[in-house]
Amino acid sequence: MCGIVGYVGSEQSSKILYEGLRRLEYRGYDSAGVAVMNDGGLNIVRAVGNLAHLGKALETEDVSGNIGIGHTRWATHGKPSEANAHPHQDCTGNLAIVHNGIIENFAELREELSGRGHDFHSETDTEVIAHLIEEQMTNGCDSLPSAVREASKSLDGTYAIAAVCTDDPDHIVAARRDSPLVIGVGETGNFLASGIPAFLAHTREVINIENGDVVILSADSITILDENDNSITRESETVDWDVAAAEKGGYDDFMLKEIFEQPEAFRNTIRGRFKDDHVTLDELKLTDQQVADISKIYIVACGTSYHAGMVGKYAIEKWARIPVELDVASEFRYRDPVIDENTLVIAISQSGETADTLAGVVQAREQGAKVLAVVNVVGSLLTREADILILTHAGPEIGVAATKTFTCQLAAMYLVGLYLATARGTLSSGERRSIISELERMPEMIQETLEDHSMITEATEKYFELPDFLYLGRGVGFPVALESALKMKEISYIHAEGYAAGEMKHGPIALIEDGTPVITVANNSLVQDKVLSNVQESIARGASIVIVGTRGDKTTMGQADDFFPVPECDEILSPVLTTIPLQLFSYHVAKRRGCNVDQPRNLAKSVTVE
Ligand code: G6P
Repeated sequence: MCGIVGYVGSEQSSKILYEGLRRLEYRGYDSAGVAVMNDGGLNIVRAVGNLAHLGKALETEDVSGNIGIGHTRWATHGKPSEANAHPHQDCTGNLAIVHNGIIENFAELREELSGRGHDFHSETDTEVIAHLIEEQMTNGCDSLPSAVREASKSLDGTYAIAAVCTDDPDHIVAARRDSPLVIGVGETGNFLASGIPAFLAHTREVINIENGDVVILSADSITILDENDNSITRESETVDWDVAAAEKGGYDDFMLKEIFEQPEAFRNTIRGRFKDDHVTLDELKLTDQQVADISKIYIVACGTSYHAGMVGKYAIEKWARIPVELDVASEFRYRDPVIDENTLVIAISQSGETADTLAGVVQAREQGAKVLAVVNVVGSLLTREADILILTHAGPEIGVAATKTFTCQLAAMYLVGLYLATARGTLSSGERRSIISELERMPEMIQETLEDHSMITEATEKYFELPDFLYLGRGVGFPVALESALKMKEISYIHAEGYAAGEMKHGPIALIEDGTPVITVANNSLVQDKVLSNVQESIARGASIVIVGTRGDKTTMGQADDFFPVPECDEILSPVLTTIPLQLFSYHVAKRRGCNVDQPRNLAKSVTVE
């Protein structure tokens, strides 16, 4: 978590840093700060609360200068406070650093450093890094880069660090281990950030920084030292995200914009993937024999990505007839699952940074499994840990609650399922063609679903003040119920429970009383009648019924107080559509309750801690 940005060039840095932080605010937003260097001095401005507070503070301070670093924080060590906000300094006040990650041995380091006379001003793990660099600078290191290198040798844990020092007034020095950091190569100077959106307004030319690199940026040069301190060249790549994609584009919130971007995002994810009756996944470099030998698949993910994984399990088992186990990554990594070289592990993560998912992947590879990663963020850590990478092309997702990345993850899982089914001969050519043509029609069907949503805003008025929602679904409707309940919780802070409809009678039914909203996924499917029986059981106990169902299905409509229609489509593919009205429902309920939908309390977009 946390966002880092750095700039050195011919422009005023504070404005660039602030704008960059604004685009990284999804990474954390409990405090923020910048350090700008000028005339041999450092000017540091920090503020508690979201970025607007820093913006205000910057209006009244003189922060001119062409070189600086900035940070937006998601607290791990120490409460959100100005003292704990980054940048942090050493004892001399000549050095300022920003950090993303967790220093696991910070308590020991702090004790040692205190013992050697260092004064600490925060509760953070980060501050130890500043003092370690200071010691290196005073104990023989002849430059900031070598002090950063030496200091980093004492650190256990993960970090991306950027440092500026008045002893070296023309450079930003950065290093990373297992936390993201990229360089932006600009015309007016060079950039550094935890995520590409931070500098997208200035450049699309990006260089990935690898674990162990130390980077030295000046206005017109980029030096990268590898872990043996050899100066090396890393090729830049041009990203195709445009700056408008990282802005709100006329919508009130990123979340709403991202919900409405789903037709395009889905189209981009499946683009170029179909040839006649099969899927082309050139990335999936498995031989026919290796595909035939897969005896088991584990899908490993967290949060919304886990729900995409659940749909993936249903699709792969139905189409490719391979047993699939689904695991929450934080459980997978510690439960000693049975893995061998015939196991395929599919890791799903929009950010590609989630600590638990990454750890699960590393472990699975060590045990001989092949790892396929479904990721949205190019160059993220998971993309580098996987044997096979399938990118979802959702574009940057800024709203913390995942929406378009979820439907794109579904698209990716369908591609994988179809690929495996083709390779193992478990679906006929006709069956594959029919699924492919539905997938190709999907962007239009998503569009149709989005256009028809006045009934959702009407329903919002009835329900937004209620304290508890129950979501039900069966088959692939079950992950949709889970995901929709999660979305409601995340952004509206209403208690929402997702349940397999058939399990309702084993507990949640006790919660139903007059007016309890029971939101049910009951589109046309093999299990629709069963779901509708559960709806009847809920009605008998006084529930208010909201149904997501197939447009024109009068019988189902008749059982609902509120009916959100979706176009008819293949059952396994239907989560792409049934999810959408419920994303909008959560959005409108949250807005009606006055919540900040883009930055829900306590959450972060990428979770780089356990
Ligand atoms: C956080 C986000 C969720 C996301 C989850 C997994 O909790 O708030 O939206 O689903 O992390 O993230 P990943 O990047 O691995 O998909």
